[in-house]
Amino acid sequence: MRGIGDLDVRGKAVLLRADLNVPLDGTQITDDGRIQASLPTIAKLAGRGARVLVCAHLGRPKGTSYGERAAAGPSVRPVRARLAELLGSDVTLSADVAGPSAAEAAAGLADGQVALLENVRFEPGETSKDDAERGELARRLAGLAQLYVGDGFGAVHRKHASVYDVPGLLPHAAGDLIMAELAVLRQLTSQPPRPYVVVLGGAKPSDKLAVIASLLGTADRLLIGGGMSYTFLAASGYEVGNSMLEADQVPDVSELLAEARRRGVEIVLPVDLVAATRFAPDAEHDVVPVASFPADREGVDIGPATRELFAAKLADAKTVFWNGPVGVFEFPAFAAGTRAVAEAIKAVHGLTVIGGGDSAAAIRRLGFAPGDFSHISTGGGASLEYLEGRVLPGLAALDGGT
Ligand code: 3PG
Ligand code: MG
Repeated sequence: MRGIGDLDVRGKAVLLRADLNVPLDGTQITDDGRIQASLPTIAKLAGRGARVLVCAHLGRPKGTSYGERAAAGPSVRPVRARLAELLGSDVTLSADVAGPSAAEAAAGLADGQVALLENVRFEPGETSKDDAERGELARRLAGLAQLYVGDGFGAVHRKHASVYDVPGLLPHAAGDLIMAELAVLRQLTSQPPRPYVVVLGGAKPSDKLAVIASLLGTADRLLIGGGMSYTFLAASGYEVGNSMLEADQVPDVSELLAEARRRGVEIVLPVDLVAATRFAPDAEHDVVPVASFPADREGVDIGPATRELFAAKLADAKTVFWNGPVGVFEFPAFAAGTRAVAEAIKAVHGLTVIGGGDSAAAIRRLGFAPGDFSHISTGGGASLEYLEGRVLPGLAALDGGT
């Protein structure tokens, strides 16, 4: 895979696909981690005299036509403002994605200047399953530039026009963020120092069964918490009350637990939980052992015994990968579990990788610093699919010719 050092960018229009998909509260950016992480490549290209045209998505705009999606939003306007602030220079925003305004923004760039295209997902062709529809948008995007740089690591698992199709149409390279992310993921997949402990949380086991199955071949221990743990607890015969449960996944989860036993991989589940009367920040709650979970409560965090258990299971780790919070950390009363896991990982002497947009945002919100871990990935889905051993469309496209 070529890097940006292999491209002669001076005086050229470079279409840079970045992942600037930041969480928003209205039009307020609540965590700018992905913009920060994209900055070095943007600044480097601009510093080398490229005319940088940044292309990015924001959220999942709804609607079937461009008009409907653009009207529904979100616009990348807040992203433009933060990007300009961090770059310390002006960033023009085009009013469309690959139409007349985008062409005007591209033509108006001087060497070393940066412009941002409007939310690429306003174009229905971006996410289309139809090759021809994606191809049509890809040709319009490619027509705006002479070179393509793929640096949106968080979106490389998406077979989308700006991620997968455009690099087939222009000379291309991978940006520094993608290179850095891949270097870390390679360490996790090729003989990681042991014990290799994986912590998985977040909502649904159905999203993560495939990666767990493949982790049974590489990890020594899997600690499971958060929303997905209730299906694991149910599969182990426990009552989970009103907790988030994917009942249809119980057979597959049981099979996975049996496979882990056969392979000698330790799967560690919560032994106690914080059980709340409802899903609300001020809900009444108690700590209960998993063996006596009340039928009218829902799990919102791991309990103190589980926090200690998880910390003990992490203490001797030489490699750690963590994806997904183990409780409803957005509510301060239920953030203790996620905080304890972060503390335990921070204390590890070895390679510690936080995988994912949400987990990364969670630890920053809980006040942890980037230096507390070896690497904080900008891609949750992307890193999980990489660990699962899948071919990621956006990486395959950058690997290919031209
Ligand atoms: C993400 O936030 O996971 C990436 O930016 C990809 O976005 P998506 O999950 O909406 O495709
Ligand atoms: Mg996602």
